[in-house]
Amino acid sequence: MSLLEAYKKNDPAARSLLEVALLYPGIKAILLHRVAHRLYTWGVPFFPRLVCEISRLLTGIEIHPGARIGKNLVIDHGMGVVIGETSEIGDDCLIFHGVTLGGKGGFGKRHPTMGNRVMVGAGAKLIGNITIGDDAKIGANSVVTKHVPNNATAFGIPARIYNHETQPE
Ligand SMILES: CC(C)(COP(=O)(O)OP(=O)(O)OC[C@H]1O[C@@H](n2cnc3c(N)ncnc32)[C@H](O)[C@@H]1OP(=O)(O)O)[C@@H](O)C(=O)NCCC(=O)NCCS
Repeated sequence: MSLLEAYKKNDPAARSLLEVALLYPGIKAILLHRVAHRLYTWGVPFFPRLVCEISRLLTGIEIHPGARIGKNLVIDHGMGVVIGETSEIGDDCLIFHGVTLGGKGGFGKRHPTMGNRVMVGAGAKLIGNITIGDDAKIGANSVVTKHVPNNATAFGIPARIYNHETQPE
């Protein structure tokens, strides 16, 4: 599946691949991030952040050039998304507008690591060097500060794991 197809699959409002290619800010942000990340890994000064800033002005999405992003990340709507320097995102993930992958200060690895096929709802904040497991779902407007296991659904402030049988743990 291509990046364009991933957007079309995840957004029932998308009418065509051409529409996705031209009109979806997440596509622009990901393509510009690929340029910025390549420059960052080469150790080029200044220009990775310049590309990041141009992307932010165009899309409202700020992805630090150091962030490592897997295949087919869909950023739907996009405005207000912030992805920090040491964030890692697996393949086939979906995040909505207003999502933050943020740090708690300090240096070194300080941002979240997301597995594959993770969905992060609108406005959710994922804070610190935490791991979000494969196929996990994070509810809209949650604040997540602890690890979330594979396949879990977590939401709330602070986020708790939800179990449909037993109510929130
Ligand atoms: C977290 C989420 C994935 C859970 O979906 P689900 O497994 O289908 O769960 P349900 O809708 O059955 O909700 C289960 C319970 O959790 C509550 N709940 C669901 N999401 C919640 C959230 N983000 N915050 C607080 N409570 C939430 C529901 O009200 C329900 O409560 P109840 O058992 O007392 O009735 C989903 O609600 C969500 O937040 N998705 C994000 C979607 C999004 O951001 N869309 C943006 C489109 S622009």
